[in-house]
Amino acid sequence: MSTQPAIGQSISRLEGFEKVTGSAKYAGEYNVPDLLYGYVVNSTITKGEILNFNADAALALPGVIKVFYYGNRPSLAWFNMQYADMDAPPGTPFRPLQDAEIKYNGQPIALVVAESFELAKYAATLVKVDYKEETFTTDLIANQASARSPKVGLATALKPPPPKPVGDFEAAYDTAFAKASGKFIHGTEHHNPLELFATTTIYEGKGKVTIYDKTQGTVNCQLYVGNVFGLHFKDVRVISPYVGGAFGSGLRPQYQLFLSVMAALELKRAVRVTLDRTQMFSFGHRPPTTQFTRFAAAADGSLRAINHTAIAETSRFEDYTEVVVNWAHMLYPAKNTLMEYKLVPLDVFSPLDMRAPGGSTGLHAVESTMDALSYQLGIDPLEFRLINYAEKDESTGRPYSSKELRKCYEEGAARFGWSERLPQPRSMKRGNKLVGYGMATGIWEAMQLPARAKALINAEGKLEVSSAVTDIGTGTLTVMTQIAADTLGLAMDDVTFSYGDSKMAFAPIQGGSFTVATVGSAIKAAGLALAKKLFRKAKQMQNSPLGKAKFEDVEFRDGLIALKAQPKAVIALKDIVSANKGRAIQSTNFNLPKVMKLKNYSRAAHSAAFVEVEVDEELGVINVTRAVTAVAAGKIINPKTARSQILGGMVWSISKALREETITDHNFGKYMNQNLGEYHIPVHADIHELDVIFVEEKDDIVNELGSKGIGEIGLAAMPAAIANAIFHATGKRINRFPIHLDDLM
Ligand code: MOS
Repeated sequence: MSTQPAIGQSISRLEGFEKVTGSAKYAGEYNVPDLLYGYVVNSTITKGEILNFNADAALALPGVIKVFYYGNRPSLAWFNMQYADMDAPPGTPFRPLQDAEIKYNGQPIALVVAESFELAKYAATLVKVDYKEETFTTDLIANQASARSPKVGLATALKPPPPKPVGDFEAAYDTAFAKASGKFIHGTEHHNPLELFATTTIYEGKGKVTIYDKTQGTVNCQLYVGNVFGLHFKDVRVISPYVGGAFGSGLRPQYQLFLSVMAALELKRAVRVTLDRTQMFSFGHRPPTTQFTRFAAAADGSLRAINHTAIAETSRFEDYTEVVVNWAHMLYPAKNTLMEYKLVPLDVFSPLDMRAPGGSTGLHAVESTMDALSYQLGIDPLEFRLINYAEKDESTGRPYSSKELRKCYEEGAARFGWSERLPQPRSMKRGNKLVGYGMATGIWEAMQLPARAKALINAEGKLEVSSAVTDIGTGTLTVMTQIAADTLGLAMDDVTFSYGDSKMAFAPIQGGSFTVATVGSAIKAAGLALAKKLFRKAKQMQNSPLGKAKFEDVEFRDGLIALKAQPKAVIALKDIVSANKGRAIQSTNFNLPKVMKLKNYSRAAHSAAFVEVEVDEELGVINVTRAVTAVAAGKIINPKTARSQILGGMVWSISKALREETITDHNFGKYMNQNLGEYHIPVHADIHELDVIFVEEKDDIVNELGSKGIGEIGLAAMPAAIANAIFHATGKRINRFPIHLDDLM
């Protein structure tokens, strides 16, 4: 009997036990002998210069080893490019402790290194800094007039600019039958994964370091450290064994990595730098963004004109961009379009990708404007989407490699009970509460990057696969093991997947929902290459029953190679290794996306979200009582971990629409709620019935696995669906996120 395919099975996380019992070690938990602890001092001003830096009182404490600042830091690489990383936007990457200049509030200006964390933290309070303050600007809304087009750079490849205008938007809009427009305001959001950012650097002597880092890219950090500190890449090993959530926060090397490595190299000792919760607000964030939409349709509901403009914040030193305004025309046909995306550089740190960057922002505006227009037309919001269903990507004219959005609408609506909806706003009630039903569409690009993977069969006939990729909590270890198992028809127990180490086969950063497509495809290719190698070696063995067989004539199952026509003619994988003098048989493959084939297609996952809210108008309290998200994302490798990804996105949708917001006091240029007490996220009491559907979607084009990735699509549609449900419940269209109690009173 053959082993059941592992792909498609709901398998619990292989590392789950370690994680819930606390035996899983994170970057800031590696205890090594003689470890020193670094605590970061952050700027309390927003812009200016350090005039005086005095660490005497800190250094006078027994156990304080050194206080690094710009005046005594080692000489480092001077070229901007050397600070660049795989996710660096165009501009000059931030260089910690570079000089006396202060570019943003919270900027790291010193590292206190001591014998204990507590001592370092206390000593940091004794560091005296005099500044010369300069005027600064942190307010996006007050400075929108200075918006300009973003600079183009390497990272632009993954973040295409807005599509070119088509037709004559203004004329078409002016003369259209029905119109809807909106101004959408999103505030800043900060990354707050459970695990704080931490790096433990072990000094191995002679310019060699081993680094435990919280990151989404071990190789990315290896290259960064090698470049910045002038070390040989082979002397820099970055290990990221477990990651307690990242969501984009670990796509770029964070400043604690720099500081930890710098101190370790200088002091020739192991140094750990851990950021605290407040310091999580001192680097990349989701940028505040203002959007304007104008959509118009004919009387039959067909869209005629779409205009979507976004103005977003960036720093003074980098042009961070997101894909905000490209989605509407990928989703809906219209003969007249106008999409614009602009940046306002302000005195803040560079924004950073945060789950569904740009998508969750832009689709809120698109899908709430679609909702508003459906009311203008008197057409059911779902029916309105179906009238405007795009069979191809209207923004490029290319077909989709697959698109089962229609099934998302159908199955989602059926599960939710959309047909029970009464069309009039304020017409549905439960007790003294208004009830609203809202829906929205989601889309997220299905990307794939190059990657390597190594696969080998060991002396026990077991498969060992490895890649430098991280597992940021998404289930990467589990799904990669599943993919690997199927390449040789093995049981999961006979496969180990090693990961999270820069010395393993190359993997790019883990983000953009492209890890399964990228690393999974590389593993599949490496597995296939290994299978062919094993087959060749098996044929050469003495008295091989596979004698004249071709590769197509055999199957791999139960640790054997077997002739399909003669199930008893088998060779065990471990016997092939024995015949190889006990030496493991291995294959390492570099796997590239099939660009020539892919360029003719648009590739995207789709979703539809349906939401019920209850609104207590007297108190302004909004509850998301039920929600369904139906997702079309190609082949689902592991329905259990995939469902968890979508559930996480749905919880985050509630957070985005109703809770999450970093408040800036523009008088100080400072974030005011830098803690989890005041940075609101949903708690258990906010979360009710959440339901996930994966619709059947076959895709032979998108990549070797036919799988599109499900990291971000869960956050694409639902924030807008919540806003739309609130409109249906109350008749109030609130376009500023998060929606507050007082907006409804
Ligand atoms: Mo992705 S922006 O790393 O969730």
